[in-house]
Amino acid sequence: MPVAKKIQASIEKSSWIRKMFEEGMVRKAKYGAENVFDFSIGNPNLEPPAKFKEVLRDLAADTTAGIHGYMPNAGHLEARKAVAEYLSKHNRQAFGPDDIVMTVGAGGGLNVVLKTILNPGDEVIIPSPYFVEYNFYLDNHQGVPKLVSTRPDFSLDFDAIERAISEKTKAVLIDSPNNPTGKVYSKQDLDTLGNLLAAYSRKRGEPIYLVSDEPYRKIVYDGIAVPSVFDAYPETFVITSFSKDLSLPGERIGYAAVHPAISDKKSVMGGMILCNRVLGYVNAPSFMQRAVSKLLEESVDISLYQKKRDMLCNGLADCGYEFTKPGGAFYLFPKTPIPDDVAFVSALQEENILAVPGSGFYGPGHMRIAYCVDDRTIEKAMPGFERVIKKYKKG
Ligand SMILES: Cc1ncc(COP(=O)(O)O)c(C=O)c1O
Repeated sequence: MPVAKKIQASIEKSSWIRKMFEEGMVRKAKYGAENVFDFSIGNPNLEPPAKFKEVLRDLAADTTAGIHGYMPNAGHLEARKAVAEYLSKHNRQAFGPDDIVMTVGAGGGLNVVLKTILNPGDEVIIPSPYFVEYNFYLDNHQGVPKLVSTRPDFSLDFDAIERAISEKTKAVLIDSPNNPTGKVYSKQDLDTLGNLLAAYSRKRGEPIYLVSDEPYRKIVYDGIAVPSVFDAYPETFVITSFSKDLSLPGERIGYAAVHPAISDKKSVMGGMILCNRVLGYVNAPSFMQRAVSKLLEESVDISLYQKKRDMLCNGLADCGYEFTKPGGAFYLFPKTPIPDDVAFVSALQEENILAVPGSGFYGPGHMRIAYCVDDRTIEKAMPGFERVIKKYKKG
């Protein structure tokens, strides 16, 4: 077999999101794209803000010699300075450019951080349901996922986290606003988590890290703000990107930041910079580093996502679906009216509605609906959602 056994097995397991995406292609060819309601994938449907194009035009006109050459592996100093200034403004700590590595999206940033901190067999605690690419990222660096349940409203379950801590625990990995649930963790919960990790780190004499994946931080509703994880705990990494809030997922640009007071900062940063290089990224895309450093306070119009959330939540609640209303991101994670979420999602498919079974996120009995779609898709899908739930509620 030409391909490594492990990779072959992973290809065959192919994620539910991919399966739904492929099913969508088949259905769109058969029934016409406008008749298929595709809620399977978290690809933002809004265009980047107009200012993005203006910034690109200005940057393209820059003819400074050497501008396209190699750079420090951490990224352009100017970009890191801009990010540090932005973080200093939005958190209580003072960040410097040496606390930042520009990365190839959040996915690249997570791999850099995990490669930096993990020894083979180290465990990473992840509240589920969760973004299952984490499994592959951990496996890349010989880490082991330790899944813990969340409460019924998807908030953190501290008893479960505490039970999962072992001497092999290296980090807790969280994602708020969450994919797939849309949950935003409260300040109180982050403080409790910070205190818990601080107590265990003290006992052990070395830190259990908090790794916070935050590509949806700016996508929040009803005037709430995502509390700072840096304020809750010093042994913290934040990884984010501009994929979702500026609608730039194809441009592969993000950053990883460490708490200015993280222990052994020199070796942690040295490790991250080396890992960015040797993972083959070398550095984050240069042109995009320069672009996003001028767009740090920008985002797409979040009120448009809020409108979609409200349309979807109101419509589904009227049909009888049960869910926790998401505070952020662009995903809804309703209960399926039958425990077999795969069967329910298949029934939705018969109405040309594509959702992803919750099992694909280790959240069985649910489904994920990605509502980063045009309003019409939500509107037109609603009768199908209603027909399917009625069928099951009657039966
Ligand atoms: C929770 C979460 N983390 C990370 C990523 C990866 O983001 P990026 O495209 O910036 O690598 C995604 C993408 O969907 C995500 O949902």
